[in-house]
Amino acid sequence: MITDLWYKNAIVYCVAVESFMDSDGDGVGDFRGLTRRLDYLHGLGVTAIWLMPFQTSPGRDDGYDVSDYYNVDERFGTLGDFVEFTHGCKQRGMRVLIDLVVNHTSDEHPWFKSARSDPKSPYRDWYVWSKKKPKNADKGMVFPGVQTTTWTYDEAAKAYYFHRFYDFQPDLNTASPLVQAELLKIMGFWIQLGVSGFRMDAVPFVIAEKGPDVGLEPPSDFSMLRSFREFLQWRKGDSIILGEANIVPKEAMKYFGDDGDRLQMMFNFHVNQRLFYALASGDSGPLAKGLNETKTAYPTAQWGLFLRNHDELDLGRLEPEQRQKVFDEFGPEKAMQLYDRGIRRRLAPMLKADRRRLELAYSLMFTLPGTPVMRYGDEIAMGDDLKLPERYCARTPMQWSNRKNGGFSTAEKTYLPAISGGAFGFETVNVADQRRDPQSVFNWMERIIRMRQEVPEIGWGEYRVLPVKDPAILALRYEWRGNVVVFLHNFDVEPKEVAFRAEGTDDEPATLSNLLDENHSDPGPDGRHHVVLEGYGYRWFRLGGLDDILKRSEA
Ligand code: NOJ
Repeated sequence: MITDLWYKNAIVYCVAVESFMDSDGDGVGDFRGLTRRLDYLHGLGVTAIWLMPFQTSPGRDDGYDVSDYYNVDERFGTLGDFVEFTHGCKQRGMRVLIDLVVNHTSDEHPWFKSARSDPKSPYRDWYVWSKKKPKNADKGMVFPGVQTTTWTYDEAAKAYYFHRFYDFQPDLNTASPLVQAELLKIMGFWIQLGVSGFRMDAVPFVIAEKGPDVGLEPPSDFSMLRSFREFLQWRKGDSIILGEANIVPKEAMKYFGDDGDRLQMMFNFHVNQRLFYALASGDSGPLAKGLNETKTAYPTAQWGLFLRNHDELDLGRLEPEQRQKVFDEFGPEKAMQLYDRGIRRRLAPMLKADRRRLELAYSLMFTLPGTPVMRYGDEIAMGDDLKLPERYCARTPMQWSNRKNGGFSTAEKTYLPAISGGAFGFETVNVADQRRDPQSVFNWMERIIRMRQEVPEIGWGEYRVLPVKDPAILALRYEWRGNVVVFLHNFDVEPKEVAFRAEGTDDEPATLSNLLDENHSDPGPDGRHHVVLEGYGYRWFRLGGLDDILKRSEA
């Protein structure tokens, strides 16, 4: 297997242009501001930037309601600024992934305006209609409690239209060959402007059969995924699709394809939920099981590993008592919860800014099987603003310094207020201060990212969960090209001793070299390693003494 699949060991950083840096003082982040911060991201060790939607949009779902796929929203700049940005990334060896939101458009998209106003419109069939109210109209909402239906009557069209999400996001009729051709054209356009692929929004809904008579579990057309991939690879061989699909592992495997011929990457929601359960309960059992359940069959397939993203932490697929445990620990108040299934907070407040637990969580994100996907502000442990509605609480401006608006903008009023005051305000949590402090989260993060880049075994290797007695400990071993790495994590507040074998069946027990400090481990007389982990402690080990490791890397 050739090893130049860039995404297998990338460090992905998710950013909303709106939130990162405002260059012209209008209170909204823009491409010119973001471009000026590329050296910062490069220095942190980021190798790929995932941009949240930035195309023209009324902004009723933070850009996930696009009204022109071929343009940059004027609040963020111009297409020219976009190309300067992708060029700046290229100069620094960084890739760009962008959100591709094609399950639905905005209701202000000219296609929908035309479709609703005239039954003979060429765009009528681009959406999903019903003369009568379908019997499942009040089922299948993605945002329960906020969204009340999936079919809304449109006066102009004299018909109901289907919308899996909010009513201002009419679903595209993705089964239509014309719509499919347009989707490819959209991809081709952005590929031409310098992106290396797409984070495809809402994939299960894109490929699901849609229509008034369709049941609650519609069949999926997987051939669409293959045709997206073929098109992209023809246009630009190293471009990829990272799918957003919160589904069970068996289903997820179909998205990768049996021969690895569909999506290259998928977010691992299954592991994400079990990881939070482990953090909340101290029991890593379900997480270990989840890791075994999500082993991919094909080496080009890769998981995107994340902790928190711009949406709520969706706990919908945990057992009820597991879910309750996570709510109790991390989101006990109603204001912290969302859509009857999740928690809308950022990670640092969930973990009460406990440095040991933050390091534990991020160490896991960087060592579990997959490509780590961080979110802007993670590197300084930014907080949230629960006064803001729904998911906006975790979308506040980046905190650069202790100056006005956290150094994000010189405007009097910003798109959302920067978090000010309290433990997470920009006066306390900001990049400038943390860069000067050798002990800061920022400096820890930079170092851990650097080390992650020196462990390609995580992206490429075969992994297995090592058997250890205590469920508070997760011991994970990777092997690739004769190299072995072992990661230990203690989910308990108490120190734990863990005993395990690390070598392959035919090998002699050998030293484990610690990758982060001097704390190495030699096997005991029983051939096993005995490591004492402090409460919430973690270890990154490479099998072999320093000399062996150097010899191997020369080979
Ligand atoms: C998933 C996105 O992550 C979310 O933010 C958005 O609201 C929906 N898809 C609809 O596009």
